[in-house]
Amino acid sequence: MSSSPMPHVLLVSAPLQGHVNPLLVLGRHLASRGLLVTFTTAPHAGLKFGHGDGATIDVGRGTIRFEHLKGGDLWAPDDPRYHDPTGGVMRHIEEAAPPVLAELIRRQSEAGRPVSCVVANAFAPWATRVASGMGVPHAMLWTESCAVLSLFYHYFHSLADFPSREAGPGATVAVPGLPPLAAGDLPALIHAPEEFLWRQVLIADIRSLRETVTWVLVNTFDELERPTIEALRPHLPVIPVGPLCSGTENHGSGQDDDDCVAWLDAQPPRSVVFVAFGSLLQISRDEMSELAEGLAATGRPFLLVVRDDNRELLPDGDHCLAAATGSDSRGKVVAWCDQARVLSHGAVGCFVTHCGWNSTVEALASGVPVVTYPAWADQPTNAKFLADVYGVGVRLPKPMTRDALRRCIEKVMGGPEAVAVRARSAKWKAEATAALSTGGSLEKGIQDFVAAILSIRA
Ligand code: UDX
Repeated sequence: MSSSPMPHVLLVSAPLQGHVNPLLVLGRHLASRGLLVTFTTAPHAGLKFGHGDGATIDVGRGTIRFEHLKGGDLWAPDDPRYHDPTGGVMRHIEEAAPPVLAELIRRQSEAGRPVSCVVANAFAPWATRVASGMGVPHAMLWTESCAVLSLFYHYFHSLADFPSREAGPGATVAVPGLPPLAAGDLPALIHAPEEFLWRQVLIADIRSLRETVTWVLVNTFDELERPTIEALRPHLPVIPVGPLCSGTENHGSGQDDDDCVAWLDAQPPRSVVFVAFGSLLQISRDEMSELAEGLAATGRPFLLVVRDDNRELLPDGDHCLAAATGSDSRGKVVAWCDQARVLSHGAVGCFVTHCGWNSTVEALASGVPVVTYPAWADQPTNAKFLADVYGVGVRLPKPMTRDALRRCIEKVMGGPEAVAVRARSAKWKAEATAALSTGGSLEKGIQDFVAAILSIRA
């Protein structure tokens, strides 16, 4: 039995933008219902995303506190282990994080605000273990689609026959609630090498989910994935709590964001090609060069995000470089922008995306047609759904060529198919808007989760 008047929810995130954003949005929804929320991640990530240790945000009737995971060399931003392509840093985190998290949970009790529930992202089974060892109820926030969760669940429990990596598009897997999917549509971790640590952690996460986690919160909404959610419910206690659309979480430097909006304001409606590949993806020099030439060939205005870690790839003297230095007014190149804000601007007519789940949901919620260019993780599955299930775009084949890029952009912006693609995009925007409205899927999911926490505390 707890002494504090409202539940205290501790949110635990890996220091990655695609993980922090949805968890923080979830925190805002919980806090706005009067819950005390503490958000914890690596200190450097807290600072990067604008919430250093000790910061607080008042949201409606509640508050979000930031108390980060400090101790040892846990998550030092320049740790070379982050660049280990097999994901070796996971091993270090597995060892270093549990005592730090356990101490943080103990501190909450000493301060008179005992933790009622821990919510951690996937890929943090250590957080689940700590919570369960301390007798604290816990949930996982699955930050990818319910389809991807269901695929992993069926694959790692051997509940369906999956095509091998080499199988052609004719060989598909039938998972309840999902369309037939070929090997190339599956999340990359399914066929990743055994020694890849992200895969090992995921297997541990998924196999133990049913026994270890009280709720599985998914960043999705009923209208988007109803058959998948319903088919998975007999296996897992799924609560859809999306769309957890990032708003204020996405800020870069505020000045850049305002510049982008001012630039967009000057463009005709639905004229701009927006290109962004999330917070992690590295594209090759050749791809960057084809991208630059392809954008130039469309003759359309474009807004291109090239993160600082990719900037040296901009080819000398090309159109994008000119746009980056401001000497070409048809294009604008920025290191980061408030993507959700950009996508909701009426001047944007198409989004060339790597199909991270956050970008996927943001594209659907803003009704912007897409050109999909997935690389790894869940992105191939999201691309399949965007193009073939939701019908809001076309797939750009790999490796990118300037001609294919130009053709894809034309298809969704000007060609005969564009009208139908736009109509379907508008339909999904309406569905997402309804999910976000009073009485919609999001409110219902959050209410269900809060009720579940309250019932466990009673
Ligand atoms: C990672 C994985 O790559 C992705 O596949 C998985 O679904 C989530 O974790 P990431 O690659 O960063 O995420 O992509 P995504 O999920 O799309 O998240 C990126 C976030 O950064 C989005 O919320 C997007 O709005 C934001 N963003 C990106 C910006 O705000 N500005 C930018 O310039 C680029």
